[in-house]
Amino acid sequence: MSIEVAEDLQAQFNELNNAAFYILGEGSNTVFLEDYQGTVIKPAFMGIDLEYTETHYRLKVGAGENWHQLVLWCMQHQIYGLENLALIPGTVGAAPIQNIGAYGVEIEQFIYQVDYYDLSEQSHKSLDSQGCEFAYRDSVFKKRLADKVVITSVTFAVPKNWQAVVHYGELKELFELSAIDIFNKVVEVRQSKLPDPAKIGNAGSFFKNPIVSKDLFGKLQQTWPSIPSYPVDTDKVKIPAAWLIDQLGFKGKKIGGIGCHPKQALVLTNDGSGTGEQLLQLARTIKSAVLSEFSIVLENEVRLIGKNGPVIL
Ligand code: EPU
Repeated sequence: MSIEVAEDLQAQFNELNNAAFYILGEGSNTVFLEDYQGTVIKPAFMGIDLEYTETHYRLKVGAGENWHQLVLWCMQHQIYGLENLALIPGTVGAAPIQNIGAYGVEIEQFIYQVDYYDLSEQSHKSLDSQGCEFAYRDSVFKKRLADKVVITSVTFAVPKNWQAVVHYGELKELFELSAIDIFNKVVEVRQSKLPDPAKIGNAGSFFKNPIVSKDLFGKLQQTWPSIPSYPVDTDKVKIPAAWLIDQLGFKGKKIGGIGCHPKQALVLTNDGSGTGEQLLQLARTIKSAVLSEFSIVLENEVRLIGKNGPVIL
């Protein structure tokens, strides 16, 4: 069921009569392991409204707009800041839910307001950036408000005073610092490492990068001196899950039609013949191998949906 007008939301939900439902953007971060028995709801609120404040571009964007098309639109209108987040699949409405991030930028930096319809209170509401409780691949929409709201639009505040973010990985090689150069580089890097979901089935990073105590990290360093990490706070670091999975030799390994991507160990692919059962098998094998070798519990980043709703890995 596609909903185009925010005012119609309650009437459409009433029609469901309390039956199970799942809200889906473009499906780029969801894997249906088998046929879902409930109703799939697709918010299709569209449009981009641009306002100018003294210091910022303020863009109010419909939740159904495609994320990458918004980044492109900004580049075409010389609104710079979102270029590091080019080519992330999915919709604008999904972006704040998991606080999309790549190449040193997370969307929380640009969120001014998220408008949503609260299904239990039957009213339209909004949250500012702080109210969204953003963290790494996390927000209030995955916790307290999970499955209770439909995001209708997201308002971004993009500073007019643009600053390049080129401290992450491959971007460090950049000397010409225009936003378009960064945009082009991010597109190039993503296309070279990540399989295009339109061509080979995948949902991006399957696992989140685990955040561990410095204590555990120190112990792991004794056995694995080259283990990479990113600082989080004074007590914790984030470890690339891809590195852990890679060390255990999973790259290129397959169970039926489901495989661990040869160029990015964090991505699980389906050649078209894979089943939900095979995906669970490979993901669980990886998860338990990482636990026994590194004492780290991996969490899936992708949403797994079975016949009756969410499935726990
Ligand atoms: N690495 C390996 N083996 C691999 C891939 C990576 O050892 O097969 C190691 C390398 O040490 C590398 C490090 O992992 O330096 C980090 O790899 P990469 O830069 O590819 O990023 P990532 O941590 O694996 C995260 C996001 C991606 C995002 C990139 C770039 C998560 C779960 N994933 O991946 O987001 O594009 O950084 O910023 O945080 C997504 O969420 O779907 C996604 C693709």
